Amino acid sequence: MKRKHFLSAAALLAFKPTRSQANLWLPEKPADNPDESYWQSLRNLFPLDAERVFLNNGTMGITPYPVLQAVQDGFLNAARNGHYPGHNDNLQKELASVIGADVKEVTITKNVSEGVNLACWGIPLKSGDEVIMTTHEHVGGCFAWLNRARMDGICIKTFQLGKTAAETLENLEKTITRKTKVIAVPHIPCTIGQILPVKEICQLARSKNIISAIDGAHPLGMIQFNVHEMGCDYYSGCLHKWMLGPLGMGYFYVRQEMLEKTRCTHVAAYSGSDFNMAATPPVFGPLTDSAQRFTYGTFCGPAYAGGLAAIQLYKQIGAGNIERRGRELAGKLQESLLEFGNKIEMLTPVEAISRGCQIGFRIKNGKEKANSEFVNAMALKKIVLRYVGENGIDCVRVSTHYYNSPAETAMLVDELKKYLA
Ligand SMILES: Cc1ncc(COP(=O)(O)O)c(C=O)c1O
Repeated sequence: MKRKHFLSAAALLAFKPTRSQANLWLPEKPADNPDESYWQSLRNLFPLDAERVFLNNGTMGITPYPVLQAVQDGFLNAARNGHYPGHNDNLQKELASVIGADVKEVTITKNVSEGVNLACWGIPLKSGDEVIMTTHEHVGGCFAWLNRARMDGICIKTFQLGKTAAETLENLEKTITRKTKVIAVPHIPCTIGQILPVKEICQLARSKNIISAIDGAHPLGMIQFNVHEMGCDYYSGCLHKWMLGPLGMGYFYVRQEMLEKTRCTHVAAYSGSDFNMAATPPVFGPLTDSAQRFTYGTFCGPAYAGGLAAIQLYKQIGAGNIERRGRELAGKLQESLLEFGNKIEMLTPVEAISRGCQIGFRIKNGKEKANSEFVNAMALKKIVLRYVGENGIDCVRVSTHYYNSPAETAMLVDELKKYLA
């Protein structure tokens, strides 16, 4: 790392930003499979308080300096020169390249929920049509569909996750009927971090003429994937979780063949350009020939710069290195937790292909609110976890990213030992 201090308020006034400021924060490119000292050095990229153990990346990625710097530079540049942040494709291009999409298939949104809503309301459905979902949905993954069920009479059917990818696929398959029109499931649910066999799910959907709409809140920046290989019709993700981008930045992927079949209900600047309200009747030209048509109006240009910096940092460290690190930390943590035997219930599958960088477990000490109590007790000790209360799941969720360390997960295991004693 070449730079040590984020700009103070005083320095900000004297600061003349250049496009390369954010680059000054970039770490050296590591060899494949870097050792612990490399990962420890990356902790300096984060302004997170030194005494805080952040094991809740599943809720929100902590922002690293290169991203903060890029956002700050972007705002300062705009304030100094008064330039309106006109749209350019740079962020879409970079994003498309990391998820394996064509640039025309991707647009930037403010969050995952927006993408889920775009897919949900974009698909023509009628009363009685069935949509299949899991019993592990996040509010952002299911509210749009529940709302559509209430407003348009579509029918939501759910299935249970299995302990293995094969069992999950089997459970889903049993839920399909002749009325099934959409499978709308998370790639990785927010609850226990289980990785769903999305490629097989999308293949199954396509073979039965069913549309697949994937809630991709978690995978980008955690595990590597390719939307073309996956074969999904829609994929809604974000940069503010595992990608460590600025808060409030999502993306929406629409498979090229689905673009014209998808209703575009909210449009304005950048959705198209040809209009004339002085003509009789008024002229309204075609929509933009890309997924860009789904987003509209003034956007946060400085945040886009932060999104680009996040992708640059991700590429610099290496997607494979990041995935390996996070999975190793989660895998070792799961092993340690399993040693508690029947004092806990492990909810995240032990099957390697189904386990990513989040572990969900229940405390079995006979206390009614043990899981939320433990999460709250850890917060007081500055160990940040997530209590999962939705859908009656009632568990503790631990997220591990590359900025975490084996010492931090060991500290959590020690705290659990004390709590259970
Ligand atoms: C699985 C899942 N889907 C959707 C969302 C909603 O994301 P956003 O707040 O970016 O809309 C989340 C957020 O945690 C999530 O975990």
